[in-house]
Order: sequence, then structure tokens, then C-alpha cells
Amino acid sequence: MIKQHIEEEINNQIQEEFQSAYTYLAMSAWFEDKNLSGFASWLKAQWQEEIEHAMKFYNHLIQRDGRPILQDIKKPKVQFDSPRKAFELALEQEQHITKCIHKMYKLARDEDDYPLESLLLWFIDEQVEEEEMVKDIIDKLNLVGEDGSGLYMLDRDMGERQAQNGKGTE
Ligand SMILES: [Fe+2]
Ligand SMILES: [Fe+2]
Repeated sequence: MIKQHIEEEINNQIQEEFQSAYTYLAMSAWFEDKNLSGFASWLKAQWQEEIEHAMKFYNHLIQRDGRPILQDIKKPKVQFDSPRKAFELALEQEQHITKCIHKMYKLARDEDDYPLESLLLWFIDEQVEEEEMVKDIIDKLNLVGEDGSGLYMLDRDMGERQAQNGKGTE
């Protein structure tokens, strides 16, 4: 059995992960519109990963006789000034999620909730990877700057990452 207030925190985190997914899909659509289909594909894979994150928390609640209560998803930002601005927003979002995960980890420790603590260790590592990955893309975007051919090459590289299992692909 899971404590009520911990259950609430997990439900909030389910919302955060779905919100992240929505943000990434909105970004993907923007890049698609700019004919940068490699970036769009990368972001769609990211959208799918965020849904998987949400479902990890969802399943954790069910396994422990808790109850997932889905919350509102806000309209995401749909317009961006540049590819770099979009990825800077992605980084801000990941940094926000990292804070949420760390806060929850502290709660799990304070409340001796070992199963949640164990689940969150995975998320702590995942956030280090996600932040690093997004920072790396921002670095590359800074490097190519306004150069169209550089952006074209980068888009091709980004396109190597595809959504898995046919989900989220065309
Ligand atoms: Fe996530
Ligand atoms: Fe993420």
C-alpha cells in the first residue's frame, strides 16, 4: 500500500511526463513545418519516451494498489523563434523534470518508501542522460548558427533516431 500524499505526488509526476510528451510533439510538428524532418523524427521519439515515463509511474501506482488519476494537460508552446530556441526550451523542461524527480526522491527517502526510491533511481540516471543529450544538440546548433547547409547536415544526423516499435511513426 502506498501513502496518500505520495500517491498524489506520483499522480502529479504522471501529469508532468505527459505534459513533456505534449511539448515534444508540438516541437516535432513545428520542425515538420520547417521541413526539418530529422529533428521532427528525433522529437517524436522523445515524445514516445515521455509517454513511457508517464506509464512507468502509472504502472507503479497500480502495482501498489494506488490509483492513477489523470490531470489536465495544458496547451504546449507551438511556435518557436528558431531551432535553437526550441531546444533551449526542451532543456528548461528537462531541468524542471530533474528537480521534480529529485524532490520526489527526497520524499521517498524521508518516508522510507523503498519501492518508489528504487523506481526513482532509474529516473535520476535517465534525467542525467536526457539533459546531456539536449545540451549536446544545443551545442551543435550553436556551432552551425545561421548556416543553412550545417543545419541540413545536422537534420540528417538527427533523423537517425526513430520512434520505436512502429508507435509514433508514420
Ligand atoms: Fe520524462
Ligand atoms: Fe525527458
